[in-house]
Amino acid sequence: SSLWASVVSKPEEKQVFSSQLQPQASFKVAVLGAAGGIGQPLGLLIKMSPLVSALHLYDIANVKGVAADLSHCNTPSQVLDFTGPSELANCLKGADVVVIPAGVPRKPGMTRDDLFNINAGIVKTLVEAVADNCPDAFIHIISNPVNSTIPIAAELLKQKGVYNPKKLFGVTTLDVVRANTFIAQKKELKLIDVDVPVIGGHAGITILPLLSKTRPMVTFSNEEVKELTVRIQNAGTEVVEAKAGAGSATLSMAYAAARFVESSLRALDGDRDVYECSFVQSELTELPFFASRVKLGQKGIEAFVSADLEGLSEYESKALEALKPELKASIEKGVAFVHKTA
Ligand code: NAI
Repeated sequence: SSLWASVVSKPEEKQVFSSQLQPQASFKVAVLGAAGGIGQPLGLLIKMSPLVSALHLYDIANVKGVAADLSHCNTPSQVLDFTGPSELANCLKGADVVVIPAGVPRKPGMTRDDLFNINAGIVKTLVEAVADNCPDAFIHIISNPVNSTIPIAAELLKQKGVYNPKKLFGVTTLDVVRANTFIAQKKELKLIDVDVPVIGGHAGITILPLLSKTRPMVTFSNEEVKELTVRIQNAGTEVVEAKAGAGSATLSMAYAAARFVESSLRALDGDRDVYECSFVQSELTELPFFASRVKLGQKGIEAFVSADLEGLSEYESKALEALKPELKASIEKGVAFVHKTA
């Protein structure tokens, strides 16, 4: 776990990477959309985990080569490929964690909501298969718009009678990774020490980094808070524009998603000190889903870090109120999608 800089609480436990590649546990991880821009580097990073014994890669095309390629890495997990709907069930059986980066990415000028119709349909197909084949797995959804795809998944799992809100996660780790990086740069802090909770949702102004809760304690001018907050919220667009038509964030996203997988596996393995931000069913606010720090355990979410929402700065309190209508609308759009197509 030393790969995931800000997850490591005790730097003295850092090890040389290669010495970690002894099997330490035997979890099965499935990646759906594994041949894509995120899926491929994510597969590679998960292949490097000593906690994984089986890595199942699913896509509608091009996944055979990805699996053959990854299978040559001399790390413990066995890599298997699954192509197309007829092989999806076998991919999922026995999975402990299912990660879903399937979908279409944003193109310049597209908002996350523009992706809605295509990705909602893809998520629907995949989550229904998860419900039928591994309903007890942790489900990590990367496919955007996360603010809607998580409510969609929840409704579908409810329809199948297998919804466990403690195990359904919208992956917002990239917002935390970006916040940590940008703040460390701005304040010249050691990256490994920096941890910033990011709450709310996962699009535009619904992304709310709580700079006042930055660890280690550091003070920001009002201008810095505004500049950093806006940069974190728009960081995806920085990448979309720089790639100029060749996709959205894939490498940093894969890094972030792999960190969330590793945290989930550590929790499943009995580690009692695992915290991550994620967009989940929540009672922290009046909204049914909300991103916040959660404590992960063997049964999924064990606790919500409600203290993060206490003693917010004036800027953060206002931003929190301002994001709620948009987040609420995105959640409702997801719920409506399921009931419209049911
Ligand atoms: P990509 O187009 O490179 O890859 C998507 C993959 O999904 C392709 O291999 C495609 O064949 C596969 N796919 C499409 N339909 C499928 C289906 N029905 N079943 C299985 N696989 C299917 O896209 P990229 O860049 O990897 O992005 C994927 C998703 O992740 C997009 O929705 C994007 O918006 C989202 N994303 C989320 C982020 C986050 O922070 N949560 C950050 C960046 C992107």
